[in-house]
This record gives sequence, structure tokens and C-alpha cells, in this order.
Amino acid sequence: MINLSTNYLGLPLVSPLIVSSCGLTASVDKISRFADSGAGAVVLKSLFEEQIRFEAGMQIQRSDYPEAHDYISQYVKSNSLEEYLRLIESAKKAVKIPVIASINCISASEWILFAKNIEAAGADAIELNVYFLASQKDVSGEKIEKLYYELLQKIREVVTIPLAVKIGYQFTNLAATVNNLYTRGAKGVVLFNRFYEPDLDIEAMKLTHSDVLSSPADIRQSLRWVGILSDKVESIDIAASTGIHDGKAVIKQILAGAKAVQVCSVLYKKGETQIKVMLDDLKSWMTRKKYNSIADFRGKLNYSHIADPAMYERSQFMKYFSDFQ
Ligand SMILES: Cc1cc2nc3c(=O)[nH]c(=O)nc-3n(C[C@H](O)[C@H](O)[C@H](O)COP(=O)(O)O)c2cc1C
Repeated sequence: MINLSTNYLGLPLVSPLIVSSCGLTASVDKISRFADSGAGAVVLKSLFEEQIRFEAGMQIQRSDYPEAHDYISQYVKSNSLEEYLRLIESAKKAVKIPVIASINCISASEWILFAKNIEAAGADAIELNVYFLASQKDVSGEKIEKLYYELLQKIREVVTIPLAVKIGYQFTNLAATVNNLYTRGAKGVVLFNRFYEPDLDIEAMKLTHSDVLSSPADIRQSLRWVGILSDKVESIDIAASTGIHDGKAVIKQILAGAKAVQVCSVLYKKGETQIKVMLDDLKSWMTRKKYNSIADFRGKLNYSHIADPAMYERSQFMKYFSDFQ
């Protein structure tokens, strides 16, 4: 009997497949359908730090600027923090799988206290989506990394539920960064977030953007780093993210050492039924390979379990493919 259960951030999951933070997890109806299809957990659409700060500011202005208050309440109607808390509560009532809240944040300021409300609403964990596009020439990388750590530590002080940090791969030494996140209280890390990327329209002569949704080829950065970090920062739970579109990709990420995988683009492209398709593929592979549980093969091909671990660190094409025609 195949057992797909696993554990991520200390939470028991019925399967390793998590629906990642996006518009699809903003409604209880959809969340219920993901749970029925076999998802192990859902990460709710992100709240933005700016949204929290804005609404906190509104309370200060309420008595002083009644006109401004009208305008602000209009804005807040469609961006309400209260709505987010209700979403957590109703999702928790509707499904048995863990509901992970998500905050998109950039500063360790007073907004952090709002994390307490998220915990009180019943979220099983919080995923912090942190990203700074550092483009100032006079700010060191070290200073920017410190912002991640401060933010995490301050949130760690106000809530007791597990925290995961969702990051990009552009760090000078990712192993050190992820280890620093672990020692400062992150139970998990999501590798990696996918960002809005610019493109140029050469006919209209303007800046535009590249594809919003990922493709299966986008798995590679994540696969490399899951393979390396599941060995080097063994104690942190890794959720692989980006470019996971089929059962094979799920298997690869677990073999590389992921505790769970997050999917988004494939659900936009093919709908929630893809969850079952991916899990069925995972099960038939496990049957073929005679594995009964996820733990039986997790990390079997990570950095410390392959004959030549340096293969995960290869980066220069020219050195290895000089004869490539
Ligand atoms: C339409 C859309 C909305 C998204 N919204 C969020 C969000 O609110 N918060 C977040 O952390 N990530 C967000 N993401 C990123 C996804 O959670 C995910 O990390 C990324 O798309 C890579 O996974 P994929 O290759 O399976 O799509 C969004 C992605 C898409 C396509």
C-alpha cells in the first residue's frame, strides 16, 4: 500500500503536493477543490506588508481626517485585512489540510504585530515572501541579507506557529543564507519564488513583461539547490517551487531532498485535476520502484547520496561541453 504522507514545517501532509500562494488560493471554494484533489496543504494568496501598514495608518487617521477616511475605506474594501483573516478562518473550517498564510514583506517594522492576528485566525504556518531588488550601488549585499534576518527574527518573536521563508536564488552564498535563516527561526524555506521579469517589445518600443506562468524547464535552478541544500542545511525543511508541472518533476524534487513541492502555473494551465494526475504518476513510479513511502526515497539523489556530488555544483558549460556541436 503506497503511503504519500509526509511532514513539512512540523505539519503532517497527506501528500507532498502543496498549492503555492497565488490567486487560486484566494477562495475557500477553490481551496476545498484542491484538498479534494489530494493536495497536502495550501498557501493562501499573499497579503502585502504595504496593505497592513496602510490599514494600520487608517486607524490613526480615522478621527483626524474624516474625508480621507472615506477614501481609504473605499480602497480597503477590496483589500481588507479582515477579509484575509476571514479567509483563513473559513478555509480552516472547510478543509482538514494545513492552511499556510503568506505575507509579502520587505521591512522589519511595526506591521509585524499583525502576524499575531494571522496566528489567532488559525493559520497553521506563515510563509514570508521576502524580496528586495537591490540596485543601489552603495548598499552592500551583507546589509541586504541582514534585512531578511531581522524581519524573520522579529516575526519569530511575535508568533509561535512555524515560519517558512520564500526566497529567490540570487544570493552570493545560498547555503550560508539558508543556514542563517534556519538559525534565526525559519523551519522551512521555499526554493524558489518566481518574479516578474521585464522584456522589451521592439515593435511598440516599450518595456513589457515576460511570461507570467512558468514552463517545465524552469525547474532547474530549484532542482540544483534542493539537491545541495537538503544536504548542507539538513535541518531545514525545503519546499521546492517553480517549474513543477508533472509527476516526474515531483519525483525529481523529492529525490533531490524536498520535503514538499509547491505548484502554481500548472494549475492555472490545466486546472486542479492536475493534482490527481501528478499524484497518480508519483504512485505508479513508487510502485514500479518498490517504494512504499515518501521517506523511502526522499534525498536519495541529493548532494551526499550521489557518487560525484560536485555535479550539482557544475556551472561552466564550456568546461564540460567543449565538444558540443
Ligand atoms: C498569477 C500568479 C500569482 C501569484 N501570486 C503570488 C503571491 O501572492 N504570493 C507569492 O508568494 N507568490 C505568488 N506567485 C508565485 C507562485 O506562488 C510560485 O512561487 C511561482 O509561480 C512559481 O511556481 P510555478 O512554476 O509552479 O508557477 C504567483 C504566481 C502567479 C503565476
